[in-house]
Amino acid sequence: MTATKVSSWNEWDPLRHVIVGRADGCHIPPPEPALDAKVPEDSDMRGQWGMRPQETIDRANELLDNFAGLLRKRGVTVDRPTPIDFSEPVQTPDFSTGSQFGCMPPRDVLLTVGNEILEATMSYRCRWFEYLCYRPLLQRYFDEDPAFRHETAPKPRLTDADYRPDYLSEKIGVEKRLEWTAEKFFVTTEEEPLFDAADVLRFGRDLVVQHGFTTNLKGIEWLRRHFPDHRVHAVNFPGDPYPIHIDATFTPIRPGLILNNPQRKLPQDQREMFERNGWEIVDAAQPAHNAPPPLCYSSVWLSMNVLVLDPKTVCVEASETWQMEQLDRLGQEVIPVELRDAYAFGGGLHCCTADVRREGTCEDYFPVQ
Ligand code: GLY
Repeated sequence: MTATKVSSWNEWDPLRHVIVGRADGCHIPPPEPALDAKVPEDSDMRGQWGMRPQETIDRANELLDNFAGLLRKRGVTVDRPTPIDFSEPVQTPDFSTGSQFGCMPPRDVLLTVGNEILEATMSYRCRWFEYLCYRPLLQRYFDEDPAFRHETAPKPRLTDADYRPDYLSEKIGVEKRLEWTAEKFFVTTEEEPLFDAADVLRFGRDLVVQHGFTTNLKGIEWLRRHFPDHRVHAVNFPGDPYPIHIDATFTPIRPGLILNNPQRKLPQDQREMFERNGWEIVDAAQPAHNAPPPLCYSSVWLSMNVLVLDPKTVCVEASETWQMEQLDRLGQEVIPVELRDAYAFGGGLHCCTADVRREGTCEDYFPVQ
């Protein structure tokens, strides 16, 4: 077994080492401001909380284990987190909430940039301690890789001042939500820096960060100061009534090619950097499903939440026939991976992974700024 080396600069270079999440003990957390703003108004999750049914946990773990096995067979080193007891309440001097969430989506918590893994601030109270699930791995990487930088962003206080009371109503209506999100009037305020790692896409020297419910402008500014050798770009996607996490909206596939959710198009002024440098942004194929699976936070657009294994190869959820066909037409080798029954635990194939190592170095893909 080769010693750990942490290094990953983008979303597509050949993947050599990855973390795949687990569904153990996953909870539907009790209501709290930022989470309530994200759960769709007609969702079956409204009013429910507590541990998810054990048979659904077992099924999700079966799929995650299979995915880990598939990656290992392809020569990728796979590590898994250590779940904590998510039934434990979270209590700080500033807030308390009745339970935690889970550790299926490491992508939300861990941002790998070069030889650094940065623990995000997170923006939900129920996810405040989730980084603990990854500490055994990060401590091991620290011991094994003398160049590894283990960083953590300032823990946020997450008082009520972090959240806009306008979003507390359960009956805002999708039209109003679309108006608000187009105006960048999101549930999180600018009280303190907030970001989830899954709002960040890595393009070598450039980091593209979604401003939305889980990442505010101060969070993006914090990232800008933290990564002074990078160019950090704030983007937003009008058309998404529940904008969290960029990876069901904007998906780089290989240098020069990005899929964009056709209902959440990148505004023209924000496309210019890509267009000036010869990148193509194509509308993603329609999802295969009309509705998400039961008790799921995410939308049907997890269809485009793919994991790129190298610039020619991509893992796509096995039921997403149109997304697979499109990527095949675009010249990729497509590997179908069954994961839909794990979506409810925190997302798709990109969400349930976090990079430790990809080959390659830090390139400048956008020399014309
Ligand atoms: N942002 C995740 C989704 O579309 O569900």
